[in-house]
Amino acid sequence: MCGIVGYIGSREPKNILLDGLKNLEYRGYDSAGIALKNNNQVQVIRGLGRISCLEEKINNMDVIKANMGIAHTRWATHGEPNEANAHPHTSGMVTLVHNGIIENFSEIKEKLIKTGVVFKSDTDSEVLAALINYYYDNDPVLAIEKAIKDVKGSYALGIIFADQDKLFAVRKDLPLIIGYGEKEFFIASDISAIIKYTNKYSLLDENEIAVLDFDGIVVTKAGKKIEKEILVTDLKAEDREKNGYEHYMLKEIMEEPIVLEKTLKPFIDDFFKIPDLSDYEEIHIVACGSAMYAGMVGKTLLEENSNIRVMCEVASEYRYKKVLYDRKTIVIVISQSGETADTIAAMRKAKENGVETLAIVNVKGSTIARESDKQIYIEAGPEIAVATTKAYILQVAVMALLACRVANESKIVDELKKLPRLLREVIDRRDIYLKIAKDIYKRDDIFFIGRKIDYAISLEGSLKLKEISYIHSEAYQAGELKHGTISLIDKGTPVFAIITDEDIMDKTISNVCEVKARGAKVIVVSNVENDVGDYLILVPKVSSFLQSILVVPCLQLIAYEVAKLKGCDIDKPKNLAKSVTVE
Ligand code: AGP
Ligand code: GLU
Repeated sequence: MCGIVGYIGSREPKNILLDGLKNLEYRGYDSAGIALKNNNQVQVIRGLGRISCLEEKINNMDVIKANMGIAHTRWATHGEPNEANAHPHTSGMVTLVHNGIIENFSEIKEKLIKTGVVFKSDTDSEVLAALINYYYDNDPVLAIEKAIKDVKGSYALGIIFADQDKLFAVRKDLPLIIGYGEKEFFIASDISAIIKYTNKYSLLDENEIAVLDFDGIVVTKAGKKIEKEILVTDLKAEDREKNGYEHYMLKEIMEEPIVLEKTLKPFIDDFFKIPDLSDYEEIHIVACGSAMYAGMVGKTLLEENSNIRVMCEVASEYRYKKVLYDRKTIVIVISQSGETADTIAAMRKAKENGVETLAIVNVKGSTIARESDKQIYIEAGPEIAVATTKAYILQVAVMALLACRVANESKIVDELKKLPRLLREVIDRRDIYLKIAKDIYKRDDIFFIGRKIDYAISLEGSLKLKEISYIHSEAYQAGELKHGTISLIDKGTPVFAIITDEDIMDKTISNVCEVKARGAKVIVVSNVENDVGDYLILVPKVSSFLQSILVVPCLQLIAYEVAKLKGCDIDKPKNLAKSVTVE
């Protein structure tokens, strides 16, 4: 979901800015641009498409000698992806880059047009630049303060003023950090953009305005100076490389046993460190996409192993629906990035109702990490591929731990110790995944079925496949298929049947027979030997609490191989962003 980088210092900004944008590519974008500034000139260069195209454009033109600049990758919300709508946007003395959405931009635009402003783009961001310029009267901070008072919506902003040798930054709802180098200073959407230059940073809080000049950074809010804590990241520049793998997604799947071990370790060392949810009468699990599907696994495990009412809802629904908080409730929000707009809003809704929130989150310092009451961090490390894999597995692992704790299943610790090795075995069987992928990658429709926890697993298997291979796929409760969708099963239609829950195994097998009778090609993923399908992926049998952790990586790798056979852009699928920071 778009990105921002800014620099001020004695070095040439161009390459630092482009390098920063490349490290933000994983967030998803459709266009990019940079603005360079020296004492009396501002040069803006923008381009549709990849950063590499922008870089080529810049390298083939005269570029001013500069000592500061801002840069942006855009994920269009207002105005189609094209060069005119790409950022940075300039209005009068102000040039800015913006992540987010200005919801009341139309009324502000109308007012500014009446003052004679002529707009050159369709974006809400240009309106914001014009508004700051409208208020600018030689006091940049005051102009910014006035403008943000007028706007409704979300923003992370990097701003330069043509007559100021300073860089300005402010955010609300979207992430933005300030970075401290040796006599050079940065702004960025996340630390990965500037990790090559510094590991020291601070998190800007809502509506704090950072002023960066050649001597340092001053942060104020409503005119009062704010002392910011300087954090040091443990991320290393080499973490961002692919370590020899062809795609980040494959690298991240291969890392799953390592990061699983790291995440489980504190709870293996002390089972009772796992938060005990037994006292709650109700648990709401709220998230988006794969994180929500991890929540669905958690819901099933918690329901099956406690008497607590468990709701699992997508955040974009939960944030607007009527929710009863008439019982002792805890809201669990699951988010890899910690910046998903709908999940943040759902968490804030719970907090506004005085309900405790527990975040299962990967990115320390993210909005969800900072605003939730309690956190369980997954130790996934940076997840660069847009399609989540290792983070999803760890989200499921943490949900499983919570269910084990509620069930007082402390003896699970012995299985937890073995799990990473078993996961390595599953992942290493890439031959079978490639064989199945070769058999199905040309199909137009692929279905996933399962019951109870196997249905929850099917949801993630289906999403992983469709989001990187662009093949239409749906997950269905196995018992539901015959209520309509089975009409879509044709000769050779691939159907993945997830069969790990012994209590209802026979029922799912019957459903497999139903689709086979209609010509389906069935790929069974199970922990029990059986010959009901055309293919059988047999995974090691472990406790039902942990079984899904050995099933989903099979589906991740099949999705990977299918997308690769189709020549898709596996790490950056079309239309997708790593973190959806707008609603
Ligand atoms: C998963 O492959 C997708 N990239 C997407 O569904 C993602 O899980 C969802 O947007 C939630 O993101 P989050 O975990 O960062 O909140
Ligand atoms: N809403 C702005 C636009 O459409 C910014 C989008 C983004 O966050 O990249 O240009």
